[in-house]
Amino acid sequence: MHSSLDTFRSVCETVVAESSAPSRIVSRLAPHMRSLIQSADRFLKPVHRRGDPDRYARNLIFSDDSGLLSLFTLVWSPGQWTPIHDHGTWGVVGVVEGVLEEQSFMRVDAQPDEDRDEGIELSPGGLVLLPTGGVSTFVPQPDHIHETGVATDSMPALSLHLYGNELNEFNVYDRNSGTRQRCRIACRRT
Ligand SMILES: [Fe+2]
Repeated sequence: MHSSLDTFRSVCETVVAESSAPSRIVSRLAPHMRSLIQSADRFLKPVHRRGDPDRYARNLIFSDDSGLLSLFTLVWSPGQWTPIHDHGTWGVVGVVEGVLEEQSFMRVDAQPDEDRDEGIELSPGGLVLLPTGGVSTFVPQPDHIHETGVATDSMPALSLHLYGNELNEFNVYDRNSGTRQRCRIACRRT
């Protein structure tokens, strides 16, 4: 593993061991993600840059044995977007190439209940345009709900996504039916 990636992983493990509050974890790790982006060209391999013509692609860089950390590249062609989803954990995102768009949503159910999978009403929140070199973070409880992607008239993008678990599954939301479903997500292991 490249030394900057080794160092980043070591810092992540230390921060997670020392901090239990997600807000504290992401605020400590955000500057390290910013540094990692700047050395990305030196540790990213061709397998980390593999895209998919049909959807955005996730390529695993590392995950730890305890399931408390994972780092992915996400590879975006213009017009590729995630569904509306949450994460169930904290996250730190850094943009290596291009501009990543993030549309957030808030639950505005008449009778709020985080555990309910039906009767969910989402209201659009703010839109973030995260340029190359930019870093964003999120925390759970209440879970961060958003859709992320690249505009049709934009250039392809590549981003790094660090999560507080392996993020193999999360909730996907359907605004029309007011429901959410637990979905497993594919990723390529390198
Ligand atoms: Fe997300």
